[in-house]
Amino acid sequence: MRPSLAQLLENPPLGLPPAEPPRPLTQASVNLGRRLFFDRRLSFNQTLSCGMCHIPEQGFTQRELATSVGMEGRPIRRNAPALYNVAHRPALFLDGREESLEQQIFAPLLAANELGNPSIGLVLQRLRRIPGYVATFQSAFGQGININTLSWALADYQRTLISADSPFDRWHFDGDADAVAPAVKRGFAVFKDSGCAACHRITEDHAHFTDDRFHDVGMPRGGIQPIDKLQVAPGQTIDVDGDVKTSIAPRKPIDLGRFDATGQIDDRWKFRTPTLRNVALTAPYMHDGSLPTLRAVVDFFDRGGAHPNADERVQPLGLNESEKEDLIAFLRSLTGSNADQLAADARSAPIGDRLEVN
Ligand code: HEC
Ligand code: HEC
Repeated sequence: MRPSLAQLLENPPLGLPPAEPPRPLTQASVNLGRRLFFDRRLSFNQTLSCGMCHIPEQGFTQRELATSVGMEGRPIRRNAPALYNVAHRPALFLDGREESLEQQIFAPLLAANELGNPSIGLVLQRLRRIPGYVATFQSAFGQGININTLSWALADYQRTLISADSPFDRWHFDGDADAVAPAVKRGFAVFKDSGCAACHRITEDHAHFTDDRFHDVGMPRGGIQPIDKLQVAPGQTIDVDGDVKTSIAPRKPIDLGRFDATGQIDDRWKFRTPTLRNVALTAPYMHDGSLPTLRAVVDFFDRGGAHPNADERVQPLGLNESEKEDLIAFLRSLTGSNADQLAADARSAPIGDRLEVN
């Protein structure tokens, strides 16, 4: 029998190691967390839920936005990460500034450009006034709505978003030679030979495809982005040169990455290595969502990044066209067998009604 989603952390699918949750994951707490995750009443003006930036059918991220947009249209400088296998991440956020799912939830609840609540007390008060929630918290945790139970419920649900058992896992870890096409096998060789696995790690019996560490892979660093062409009408561009290249150039926000979490100069421009599991489902890519396709990412690494000061393991690769296609076929083979099941399960949450606040 297929294990229930709540059991997947401890009885993992092929390709992932088992992990211990800090509390037993009960169906009651997972159901409650799922309901909260999709409840817009968790935002100050009751318009936005966690699940609107981490959309189940879009890989628990947002495919149509490079960087997220929060309450009342306020922008966020980063791409929303996919939440698959987030239970396995020792450090959360792209700069690793939080260490547990329980602590992580307070950032989106309180950030003015996310759910926009002025205080946690207000969120708790509001939840207590919604019929049904008090009793549901009681039966899930034996206590009412408080700062702990709210964070336990949301964390417990996210710990069930386990996904592996991909075609690659069935070939590589289970020896099923027919599980993948020859292009995938060649692409895995390109992956290893190009040094990708130094950061997107694989071990003997499982693969997280990340080292959970922080690196500068040579992404553009924000600030003024000089332009060579100016669009003057749809489909019409003119060449520009001289001072014009910078004087009318757009400014991208500067994101110092890991530095924001440590204050260490050496940590500037470093971001956590993302897992590659389900990567075909989670475009656009990189911390700023600036690379729209896997092809663009492969071209980026093939060029050795956008500037030369990156990690020394990112070097021009000189891949030919068929090696690039094979590498992309390999990345596409990392989609877990239960991605659709997770999306369907997500939508089993009851939809919250608008709360009349008086
Ligand atoms: C407005 C869009 C938005 C909303 C709403 C939102 N998130 Fe996020 N989430 C993001 C972005 C963007 C990041 C990356 C931020 C960063 O790294 O600084 C993120 C990061 C995360 C992470 C870290 C994942 C990782 O791989 O490290 C978790 C977990 C998470 N969000 C869960 C939630 C939960 C739970 C809620 C609701 C309480 C929520 N998010 C609401 C956009 C959003
Ligand atoms: C030095 C460590 C390192 C090496 C080597 C490396 N990567 Fe990465 N990779 C990263 C980091 C860090 C990011 C995120 C960068 C960012 O967010 O700006 C990333 C991002 C990616 C992404 C985008 C994933 C997402 O969800 O946004 C893909 C795909 C990827 N790498 C594939 C590769 C491939 C293929 C290779 C080999 C050609 C490779 N990487 C080599 C560290 C590395």
